[in-house]
Amino acid sequence: MSYYSDCVDKFRKLKDKKDVIVLSVESSCDETSIAIVKNGREVLANIVSSQIEIHRRFGGVVPEVASRNHITAISNIYSEALAEAGLTKEDIDAVAVTYGAGLVGALLVGVNFAKGLAYSLNLPLIAVSHVHGHIAANYISHPELKPPFICLMVSGGHTAILRVDDYNKMTMLGTTVDDAIGEAFDKVARVLGLPYPGGPEIDKLAKEGERKYNFTVSKSLKGTLDFSFSGIKTEVVNLVHNAEQKKQEINAADVARSFQESVTDELVNKAIRACKKEDIDTLVIAGGVGANSMLKEKALALGENEGVKVYSPVLKYCTDNSAMIGAMAYYMIKDGIGLAKLDLTAKPNVTLGC
Ligand code: KG4
Ligand code: ZN
Repeated sequence: MSYYSDCVDKFRKLKDKKDVIVLSVESSCDETSIAIVKNGREVLANIVSSQIEIHRRFGGVVPEVASRNHITAISNIYSEALAEAGLTKEDIDAVAVTYGAGLVGALLVGVNFAKGLAYSLNLPLIAVSHVHGHIAANYISHPELKPPFICLMVSGGHTAILRVDDYNKMTMLGTTVDDAIGEAFDKVARVLGLPYPGGPEIDKLAKEGERKYNFTVSKSLKGTLDFSFSGIKTEVVNLVHNAEQKKQEINAADVARSFQESVTDELVNKAIRACKKEDIDTLVIAGGVGANSMLKEKALALGENEGVKVYSPVLKYCTDNSAMIGAMAYYMIKDGIGLAKLDLTAKPNVTLGC
């Protein structure tokens, strides 16, 4: 039998297998990661090699540099993951990989590694969307969590509100019409002279500041579940540049605090409004910006007032990692979707719903 027809058979059998062990690969941006996840919820290994230090001196991710570093790191990370899980390659039931969204050259490293591995081990290859992986990060942190829920997706590349009816059934209720929220955080941090990645730096600095500036977000989108962050980003950039030109001092902590207060109000208010509108009492936060302390506090507080239970992943599963890809792959296997052929390629963009 050929590799693929063999895998179709194996893939089908995994649906009913009691314990399913997935080895997952993630390389969509500046983290090379391989994880081993049992039954979508139990992380046996999650090795993450971050390139943050390498890209910091450029003030952001340099795609070509990211690809090269993924190539250097990936084989060792594979060996480390097996060692950490205390398993051998014979214990693996399927190989999963992020095929998009992300930097195409970076994605290609993970996709090709996963294809080679799946072929050599004669195992099914599962193509996972990075964005869906971010949602699944919550299944690892919260064993009791299952759909339906509303998801607030806040990452460096995406900002959206999704209605998740089942593990593989979701529709988009709103999205950003311009910048992703992570981009806005990183840009504001940059103009304030903070290092890359800016989100965590703004989070830290905002704790020392006060809400002295009344930065505004997307008045025209007020009645919708859509977002716009390019206006507020420009407002902050103009304020800082004007102050520099006039040689006036500004308090960076106050700017960070004011920006963060405005954007987190907007995100949390719309996410809770979506729960009310859809009559769903569970909100799940997903993506790197989900690590933001103020976002989590506000969501929990408003959720409590409005009778909405709020979940977010533990910090290490908020930002990019491969355990979340292995978690998502398990639910794809159980629903019989996502089996890829060896012509699988990287995609810079993927649709959010499914
Ligand atoms: O989900 P992620 O790791 O990568 C993408 O899929 O895009 O998100 C990265 C983004 C970056 O913009 C980073 O600055 C932001 O998440 N981020 C934060 C925090 N930690 C990471 N933003 C605000 N507060 C944080 N604590
Ligand atoms: Zn991500």
